[in-house]
Amino acid sequence: MAESKPTFYITTPIYYPSGRLHIGNSYTTIACDAVARYKRAMGYDVFFLTGTDEHGLKIEQKADKLGMTPQAYVDKMAKGIKALWKKLEISNTKFIRTTDDYHEKAVAQIFQQLQDQGDIYLGEYTGWYSVSDEEYFTESQLAEVYRDDNGKVIGGKAPSGHEVQLVHEQSYFFKMSKYADWLRNYYQEHPDFIQPASRMNEMIKNFIDPGLEDLAVSRTTFHWGVPVKSDPKHVVYVWIDALSNYITALGYDGQDDSGFKKYWPADVQMVGKEIVRFHTIYWPIILHALGLPLPKTVYGHGWLLMKDGKMSKSKGNVIYPETLMDRYGLDALRYYLLRAMPYANDGIFTPEDFVDRVNFDLANDLGNLLNRTVSMINKYENGVIPAFKPGVTDFDKELEAVSKQTIANFKKWMEELHFSDALAEIWKLVSQSNKYIDQTEPWVLAKRDEDQEQLASVMAHLAASLRVIAELISPIMTHAPKEIFHQLGLDEPIDLKNLDIADLPAGAKTVAKGTPIFPRVDVDEEVNFIKTKMTTNTKAKGRSAMKAAAEKQFDPEETNLKLTKKEVRFEAFEKIELKVAEILDVKKVEGADKLLQFRLDAGDDGDRQILSGIAKWYPDYQKLIGKKVIIVSNLKPRKMRGQISQGMLLSVEHDDGNVELVTVDSHLENGLTLE
Ligand code: MSP
Repeated sequence: MAESKPTFYITTPIYYPSGRLHIGNSYTTIACDAVARYKRAMGYDVFFLTGTDEHGLKIEQKADKLGMTPQAYVDKMAKGIKALWKKLEISNTKFIRTTDDYHEKAVAQIFQQLQDQGDIYLGEYTGWYSVSDEEYFTESQLAEVYRDDNGKVIGGKAPSGHEVQLVHEQSYFFKMSKYADWLRNYYQEHPDFIQPASRMNEMIKNFIDPGLEDLAVSRTTFHWGVPVKSDPKHVVYVWIDALSNYITALGYDGQDDSGFKKYWPADVQMVGKEIVRFHTIYWPIILHALGLPLPKTVYGHGWLLMKDGKMSKSKGNVIYPETLMDRYGLDALRYYLLRAMPYANDGIFTPEDFVDRVNFDLANDLGNLLNRTVSMINKYENGVIPAFKPGVTDFDKELEAVSKQTIANFKKWMEELHFSDALAEIWKLVSQSNKYIDQTEPWVLAKRDEDQEQLASVMAHLAASLRVIAELISPIMTHAPKEIFHQLGLDEPIDLKNLDIADLPAGAKTVAKGTPIFPRVDVDEEVNFIKTKMTTNTKAKGRSAMKAAAEKQFDPEETNLKLTKKEVRFEAFEKIELKVAEILDVKKVEGADKLLQFRLDAGDDGDRQILSGIAKWYPDYQKLIGKKVIIVSNLKPRKMRGQISQGMLLSVEHDDGNVELVTVDSHLENGLTLE
């Protein structure tokens, strides 16, 4: 009987189908795909799961705005996401949608079980809800609060900067608090559970140490979700619904759970850093309560950022994967993404860096190596790769040693999910191979009869090295390895487990020199091309365009134009007075961690005092002194923490939740009114 393969289960987060996926989201999926391909090539039976997270208020509202049913909307969006993954040659075993029938049934069942065993109880929830974050906050968790004249909190902003609204609802709660000590111990006994380890410390410090609160796990304020079996006016909280996908996809609680038995627990669950909390606190507790083992590793990767922060349409800096792959090829995109993102930290995309990588790493280093090798084998060996004989010269020995090191290190990095380091390792062998050509000078050997044997060995070494390179990049690139094999006249299955430079099959015929696999591109032209693509993906409008849009809205002929929540009539906008002000002094407000107290010169008779909840983003707040900012100067003064605040400072909120004050050039006079 054939020995059965070891199994390996890897998952991506399931994506919200509420917008088009950009290169940031594509990173997570491509990274998981690389691991899946790598593990297959190492002899594993791999189950690779991805999918879409389709329930929740945001989707309900979005569909409503488009005049579609939520189902029709998610059907359309999920189709687009599936098509994208196909285009990026993602080798997932399954694509789960949380609206899949089997999933919905299993989620209702999971909820019921937790309720039956007393982990879920009915209570009343009062809290500040952010629709965008799909999360509740207590008053003390809010980054900013708005108060009425009596000091009563009437609104505010979530730490992400999104507006919150007060919601009272009957809700089911999960007794998270009951499992806090168990989780803490679990972390201690499984130090590799969260990768990188620093994220484990963050979880302990930020969420477990302050005390885990019970979690509201049902909603009655919207309907687009899985109804609670025993009380169907409630729908199951989206995160419980979403997290369960990792087990329902394998058939947990369904008709056939053989997949679940075979593949669970997952080996790697890869997620972006902002959702590590859900995957390393709530998810383990739910699994434990269900009596199930936990995934072996949850890896929280960083974000792919742009120079000016997170990608967002309003900033006009979004790059879609199709833009890059259609012009530079899928391999260039996949290579770039995994190369540019350092382990665990954020990476930065710039058009310049992308073009450089295409030109240097791909066209110059790898492309040239292949071209030179194939043309020399054609010229000197009649297109036939000579037999590989190990270690004749010191140069041969050095190349063989580097190839062995590269294979070993590449595997180590891939196992540890260090993709950028794994690729850097392959490029060491690429460089060494190019160096080997310069060292051995085959064109000199070709001239002397007595050097023919050595020339043949050099050609064999180059082909052997390229074969190793092609095998190693095969989890990351899906086209180049085939092309390299084709040009070398090799035809063999990828097998990383037994890969060795010495195993080059001899005697194969190399094909005539083909087209370069990675053509060099013009730097200026291509940087420009990418930049243009970025700005055409923008939603941002100048102030005059905003005014024009506002005026258009007020057009009496269009009085039936519906105003959405975020839009204001032009007259409302016009009433707001914005002024340039200089920060004269800034200090912390005692007893209020979030607040900074500013003294400003806004061209008034005396100084102005404004309180702003931005302390978190300005640990070095004294550096703000002397900066010029924009204030809303005609806001009704209000009291915060016993202090008067006369206006508001304008700031921007980056997509990662970071807030930054808007500053203006110092030559603008204090008190100037913005037009
Ligand atoms: N639906 C939830 C996940 C539920 S999993 C049970 C969700 N979806 S998402 O579509 O917003 O994000 C999916 C993944 O894309 C997350 O891991 C997120 O970190 C990742 N990324 C989104 N933007 C990204 C970058 N700019 N860079 C890297 N990853 C990014 O959260």
